[in-house]
Amino acid sequence: MGFQKKLLKWFDENRRSFPWRENKEPYNVWLSEIILQQTRTAQGLPYYESFLSAFPTVTALAKASEDQVMKLWQGLGYYSRARNLHATAQQITEQYDGKFPNDFDQIKSLKGIGDYTASAITSICFNQEQAVVDGNVYRVLSRTFGIIHPIDTSGAHKVFKDKAQILMKGAPPGDFNQAMMEFGALQCVPKNPNCLDCIFQNECLAFQQGKVSLLPVKGKKLKVKKRYLHYFVMIDDLKNTLLEKRKGKGIWQNLYQFPLIETFEKRKNFTDQEFKRLLSEHQINADFIMEKWNDQPVLHKLTHQHLEINFWIVKLNQSDSLDTESSEIQDYPMPRVLQNFRDKFFIN
Ligand code: ADE
Repeated sequence: MGFQKKLLKWFDENRRSFPWRENKEPYNVWLSEIILQQTRTAQGLPYYESFLSAFPTVTALAKASEDQVMKLWQGLGYYSRARNLHATAQQITEQYDGKFPNDFDQIKSLKGIGDYTASAITSICFNQEQAVVDGNVYRVLSRTFGIIHPIDTSGAHKVFKDKAQILMKGAPPGDFNQAMMEFGALQCVPKNPNCLDCIFQNECLAFQQGKVSLLPVKGKKLKVKKRYLHYFVMIDDLKNTLLEKRKGKGIWQNLYQFPLIETFEKRKNFTDQEFKRLLSEHQINADFIMEKWNDQPVLHKLTHQHLEINFWIVKLNQSDSLDTESSEIQDYPMPRVLQNFRDKFFIN
């Protein structure tokens, strides 16, 4: 039996049942694929269900407010994906009358949809032979066929897509793609795969040559930037507080946060001047007592950035500017680290 046949047989016997595998509406598949780019299936499932129940159709999503969309996306990270999802729903509603196009290039030209998502949608929903290439596919193909091309270089996508395209020929495209991903997720896992119990033991070049842990090859090391964020949580006696919406490009765009000072290096204290400037930016002119909430910085790792986060509690003796009541604070979409702080500080 060739690679394709074996893989499809394995998929038939091992596939997990997910709602997006049962309902092949392009909207549902698109939504699930965007969510699954951010998280594993088990964690993605509740997000998928709450999106669909809030917005059962593309048009319903298009009509939502950005805050509603961000609130549902909250916790998944990489918030530009949620903004693109929203913008694309609006484009499909306006340009295609709420009906997903079925042409690969048209789909790929939509905001936030790249080769991976367009291939997933066209193969699963429209039976087109477009091979997906994601982290799972890189791993399965590099190991099975001994492909040593580094996967984080510009030419890698084409090398792996071409290979997958050849392997999928004649198969049901949606099943083939999902089988590749499922095989990577369940069997050919990144660390300590169980190769002794694998259908490709005889074919897998990496296994035959004892190189499983060396593949796929990664070329360059990511440069990680360190950032130091200090949030100032202004409160009055009733724990009313002050939130602002993050502006500009960069992480967490349009999510809410406490007033922030970012420093270039680690800092234990702030000068009066720095702090007064922050207060005056928020039209606050009151006496206060300030104390640090965390002994050690909270560490938060993103792909290209490591954040060190500190919270300073600022008790004001006058509260005219604190316009967020503590009971409302849960309604605002926030990054995960701030939600964690909020749950501990405001909700308990
Ligand atoms: N990971 C992301 N999308 C997937 C899919 N459709 N099937 C299996 N794994 C996936």
